[in-house]
Amino acid sequence: MMKILLLGSGGREHALAWKIAQSPKVDKLFIAPGNAGTVNAGENVSLKADDFQGIKQFVIDNKVNMVVVGPEDPLVKGIYDFFKDDEQLKDIPVIGPSKAGAQLEGSKDFAKGFMMRHGIPTAAYKSFNGTTINEGLAFLETLQPPYVLKADGLCAGKGVLIIDNLDEAKKEFKDMLDGMFGNASATVVIEQFLSGIECSVFVLTDGKHYKILPEAKDYKRIGEHDTGLNTGGMGSVSPVPFADKVWMEKVEKRIIRPTVEGLAEEGLDYKGFIFFGLINVEGDPYVIEYNCRMGDPETETVMLRVKSDLVELLEGVAEGNLDERVLEIDPRAAVCVMLVSGGYPQAYGKGYPISGITDVEGSIVFHAGTAMKDGQVVTNGGRVIAVSSYGKDKEEALAKSMKEQQKIQFEKKYYRSDIGQDL
Ligand code: AMP
Ligand code: GLY
Repeated sequence: MMKILLLGSGGREHALAWKIAQSPKVDKLFIAPGNAGTVNAGENVSLKADDFQGIKQFVIDNKVNMVVVGPEDPLVKGIYDFFKDDEQLKDIPVIGPSKAGAQLEGSKDFAKGFMMRHGIPTAAYKSFNGTTINEGLAFLETLQPPYVLKADGLCAGKGVLIIDNLDEAKKEFKDMLDGMFGNASATVVIEQFLSGIECSVFVLTDGKHYKILPEAKDYKRIGEHDTGLNTGGMGSVSPVPFADKVWMEKVEKRIIRPTVEGLAEEGLDYKGFIFFGLINVEGDPYVIEYNCRMGDPETETVMLRVKSDLVELLEGVAEGNLDERVLEIDPRAAVCVMLVSGGYPQAYGKGYPISGITDVEGSIVFHAGTAMKDGQVVTNGGRVIAVSSYGKDKEEALAKSMKEQQKIQFEKKYYRSDIGQDL
């Protein structure tokens, strides 16, 4: 029997916790720090996901057998290497890449270079820094609008600017190099704009073998029909109709296989999830970005469709025999509708009491930004709760989530009602 520690505190982590807790192989699941919902799947531990020393002590004291990392931050900071290099921790598997492997997400410049080296389709690009400002400005003049500017480092999803006007693009480019995103934009990638529909593809790899998890699409804009500001994600749907057998074969052959082989060739230790942010350009998949973890809110639909025991697969990752494990996928559709706090993604309030969660029937409630205050579940973030449902198709799943979410109330609740409807 296993004791698993899951790091993170969002809707993604609640969905992972929900799935892990169903495994007959697990007798104890800890979530650090977790939220007001993860207590239904395991025990919350008040440790930050990047408090490596605190995590070490907890893992030793509680005889934890496996650490599953939800967010990118601890991975980019090297939690995998921290365990591997520690005499007391080295035999405890961490599900997630090494610091070197996590550069796929931690450095856009690295990711672009990696794709070039392995012939993986992606937008044409060049990288610039403080010593090559003039070259960058000249490069912008050779491109057609819209202009895509990306901060090299982690910016909590805010480091990409898409600008229609050349003068504005030049100004933003200079501001980025000047520290708009601190050190994360000391290097800026300028790339060709690609036009198409996006799709998130997820792979679990042990460094040699891989399993392709169900794909999903997320909805980043705050408003109906993809209008308004970008958010962390207002909902997701799986499967994605255009990601059919033929398209997924292209994805596997042109993108997934060369990525997993490329990581191995370059000696980048990678045992965990790879998130391929793809765009479909007239039937051909291109990589927009890599992430070194699962997506949020995609996990809140992907986990519904993983029928097999996830822990069995994670063991395969740890032991390097993922090829001997079975991944069975639920053929039903899943849709997640995110309930957010009014004002998000700009200023919003916190601490509003949430009612009706236990009245929900037949849908799965994943907490994202929630906390317990005096025995009451309250809002504690912009994205508050994900309501996920199965259906025979995405329309039925959406209708179910829309019906059940009405039972959950908090002040200034807002949501999108069109998840999956553009496809
Ligand atoms: P990222 O932070 O890399 O996910 O980028 C944020 C969003 O910007 C993506 O989800 C895309 O919608 C958009 N984007 C990024 N790169 C490009 C590109 N080369 N062409 C078109 N859209 C892009
Ligand atoms: N849903 C996109 C992400 O997790 O980055």
